[in-house]
This record gives sequence, C-alpha cells and structure tokens, in this order.
Amino acid sequence: MNKEQKYQQMLPQLAALIEGEKDEVSVLANASALLSETFGWLWTGFYLVRDGELRLGPFQGSVACMHIAKGRGVCGTAWAQDATQVVADVEAFPGHIACSSLSRSEIVVPMHNSQGEVVGVLDIDHSELSTFDDTDRKYLEQAVLLITNTLYL
Ligand code: SME
Repeated sequence: MNKEQKYQQMLPQLAALIEGEKDEVSVLANASALLSETFGWLWTGFYLVRDGELRLGPFQGSVACMHIAKGRGVCGTAWAQDATQVVADVEAFPGHIACSSLSRSEIVVPMHNSQGEVVGVLDIDHSELSTFDDTDRKYLEQAVLLITNTLYL
C-alpha cells in the first residue's frame, strides 16, 4: 500500500474510533495511537494551548519537551503563523527544538476550535530527511479537522 492508500484507509478508521467522543485526552490519545500504528513514525502527538503556551498532550513516542512558547520551534511557528509547517530537514529550521536527536524531518498541523482559534497542534517527527510532502499535508489536515469537529463543535 502506498502512503495515499494508507491515509485513505486510516481516515474512516479514525472517524469511527472517535465518533461522538468529547473527551480531549481520550480522543487525542487514540488518534495518536492510530496514526502511529498506521505509519510507524518516530513521534506522533499533540501539543495543546494552555496558559499562553503549548503544553505536551497525548502522544506516541519518546519523552518530549513539555512547554513550547508561541513562535518557538516548528510547533510554536505553526501556532504563531496559523499554518501547517512541512520541514524537510529540522536542522535547517531556525529555532528547531530537538526533543530527540533521531528526528530529521517534521510536519506540524494547527488545530482550531469553532471560533477558528488555534487550540493546539498535531506534531509528527520522522527519523529520515524529506519524508513529508503535500500528500501528508492534505490528509493530516483532514485528520485534524475530523478530530477538532468531534471535540470542539
Ligand atoms: N520538534 C518540535 C518540538 C517537539 S518534539 O519534536 C516532540 C519543534 O521544534 O517544535
């Protein structure tokens, strides 16, 4: 199965898994598990906006930094710019926060509430360079929309 087919198979699974669920921790925990099981990325998880910073949320992977300021690193940039960040080489990204020395490339997708405010981000790290592209962006933005429509609408 290619990447696109994996996403097409995973999205209905995600929709079924979280349908009608309103608990943020439960939904984000299972969403990170499903994404991680499907693709086997190095780190897959969520940071949530709490008290004016990004705070570590449910994830699959190794221990990670717990506080990220707005505008800092890839996650803080996705929040500040309210835009998905696709990073081919994390070492070339100014201010990248290295939680793991194994991380080489990254994609971060902002999550919004019903008012359109950023309430968190989905952060995915890969151990190889240049792994994320417009296919990942398209389907991960759809996955995030499924999650935020379930939780915040
Ligand atoms: N690399 C991220 C920090 C979070 S960890 O990778 C889990 C960043 O620069 O935002």
